[in-house]
Amino acid sequence: MGVYQVMNKKLLTWVDEIKTLCEPDSVEWCDGSQEEYDRLCNLMVQSGTFIKLNEEKRPGSYLCRSNPADVARVENRTFIASKTKEEAGPTNNWTDPDELKRIMLDLYKGCMKGRTMFVIPFSMGPIGSSIAHIGIEITDSPYVVANMRIMTRMGKKVIDALGDGHFVKCLHSVGAPLKDSEKDAPWPCNPDSKYISHFPEEKMIWSYGSGYGGNALLGKKCFALRIASVQAREEGWMAEHMLILGITNPEGVKKYIAAAFPSACGKTNLAMLIPTIPGWKVECIGDDIAWMKIGEDGRLYAINPEAGFFGVAPGTSMYSNPNAMLSLTKNSIFTNVAQTDDNDVWWEEIDGDVPAHLTDWKGNDWTPASTEKASHPNARFTAPAEQCPVIDPKWEDPNGVPIDAILFGGRRPSVIPLVNEAKSWEHGVFLGSVMGSEKTAAAAGKVGELRRDPFAMLPFCGYHMADYFAHWLSMPQRTDRSKLPRLYYVNWFRKNSEGKWLWPGYGENSRVLKWVIERVMNIAKAVETPIGNLPTVDAIDVSGLDISKEDMQELVYFDKEQWKNEAASIREYYTMYEGKLPKTLIDQLDALEKDLQK
Ligand code: GTP
Ligand code: SPV
Ligand code: MN
Repeated sequence: MGVYQVMNKKLLTWVDEIKTLCEPDSVEWCDGSQEEYDRLCNLMVQSGTFIKLNEEKRPGSYLCRSNPADVARVENRTFIASKTKEEAGPTNNWTDPDELKRIMLDLYKGCMKGRTMFVIPFSMGPIGSSIAHIGIEITDSPYVVANMRIMTRMGKKVIDALGDGHFVKCLHSVGAPLKDSEKDAPWPCNPDSKYISHFPEEKMIWSYGSGYGGNALLGKKCFALRIASVQAREEGWMAEHMLILGITNPEGVKKYIAAAFPSACGKTNLAMLIPTIPGWKVECIGDDIAWMKIGEDGRLYAINPEAGFFGVAPGTSMYSNPNAMLSLTKNSIFTNVAQTDDNDVWWEEIDGDVPAHLTDWKGNDWTPASTEKASHPNARFTAPAEQCPVIDPKWEDPNGVPIDAILFGGRRPSVIPLVNEAKSWEHGVFLGSVMGSEKTAAAAGKVGELRRDPFAMLPFCGYHMADYFAHWLSMPQRTDRSKLPRLYYVNWFRKNSEGKWLWPGYGENSRVLKWVIERVMNIAKAVETPIGNLPTVDAIDVSGLDISKEDMQELVYFDKEQWKNEAASIREYYTMYEGKLPKTLIDQLDALEKDLQK
């Protein structure tokens, strides 16, 4: 491993510095090879971190159980340490960068004792793409190395592409130094002290104490969203929490759509959906993050900066998402799912009968009589994107794909119609800025209570959210506005008076995508309303679908009184941005309220 030449002086100096600070037993430069991956996985099997799954059922795959105190992103331990609090804005945890560094340098001192320090060169986006960027993650977690190899382009080829160039410094430690001859935990972490810190001016990430997902795989949320959103604003491009898909109609016309939905609101489902309307095809570019740049022809081009899927396992089945199930049949890592007696994986709502016995995500015996879930609700699979049966032929195209439409969405049991077309770019930015999800009875908190999650970026925007809105609003100044994608607000989650989904969702969402594409092609029908352009009741193709005319009517219905309340709620929500909210958005809200009075 790691016998290759590194010429980048800044990189060599930084690695030396961190080695001196963290005092690992040894340093390994990751080359990204299969041999390296296999060797690390075998080591983790020996140490008890990984369980090798049944080679016949799930070739090349592993199960991993985290410490129960380390199971998800920790938003309250995630910091944007810009120079001033004002720059981080009201939606982020801000801490003074110098103060934070003092605290963390203390924690990092000797934190890798007894461990190997890995240097992971990785590219977010196809190597050599003008939209891609390089990062280097230093970590003491072999689990992170294995996951980063699936989730990013990683290893020697990145060092070759980097040359003398710039890279984002990503430092990670599980925060669990080992004393002499101390036996390591299967999932080392520091339950009492976690920091996921971002230094936007320096484009630097320091993570400590957690080994899980977005806290530890620093290319993902930390780099590709929080730091990249800052970079994107400075350089005039966009870093977004969006899936990207290609959709082809029966005549062979292909369009690309990006969509921003909050976490656990169905990006992975939509990204690889199987259309229920005959002759239509959907192909997947990415399921979580989009980097978009205006191309030479003035259109907005998107790449998926990632190379794998880090998807929620529970709820995934051949019914809900067959292409995800087929992506994870081999070469995958499963974290916090349950284990079957024949050494395969299991989670709630997976296909087939519930087994009579399982080992749950904590390693305990489980039977259907157990009161606890067998897999953790945020259990995840890490699977190579290239294994997706409908991966788009252009998913690694360094130029990206031209985006024709962008969707915003969330869980809104009422008020928000199935689909609504923005009247203009500015109106679409207004819709994106107010999007959110309502809490259901299943979760703690007031039922129907809204959490506004603008552009699905609430936990991921690396700077002041109002400045982020202004950045979106600046796009028409960067190109011919007619070349920008059209913007839509979708809602698969509207419920009827009995609390049942009005819309069947999943593959049937292709019917909405069809309307969107046909709007872009100027052939689908819509009515202008105060909230946007809504499909006429017969505009959505429901052939072959068992849905009543009344339900369809309700799905595309806009209720003036409900919207007056919505507008009032938006006005109140906007006060959190104080003097910083772009006037254009206030104008949009004023215009909406005025139209609702008519
Ligand atoms: P992150 O990976 O956390 O960013 O989330 P994601 O947006 O990829 O979410 P994910 O695909 O994991 O969300 C799945 C959840 O959305 C499950 O609870 C699904 O049942 C639900 N879901 C997805 N599509 C639909 C749909 O069309 N209708 C309904 N009712 N539920 C859906
Ligand atoms: C999300 O929470 O939106 C994710 C998972 O995609 S994580 O990478 O852990 O942030
Ligand atoms: Mn996500």
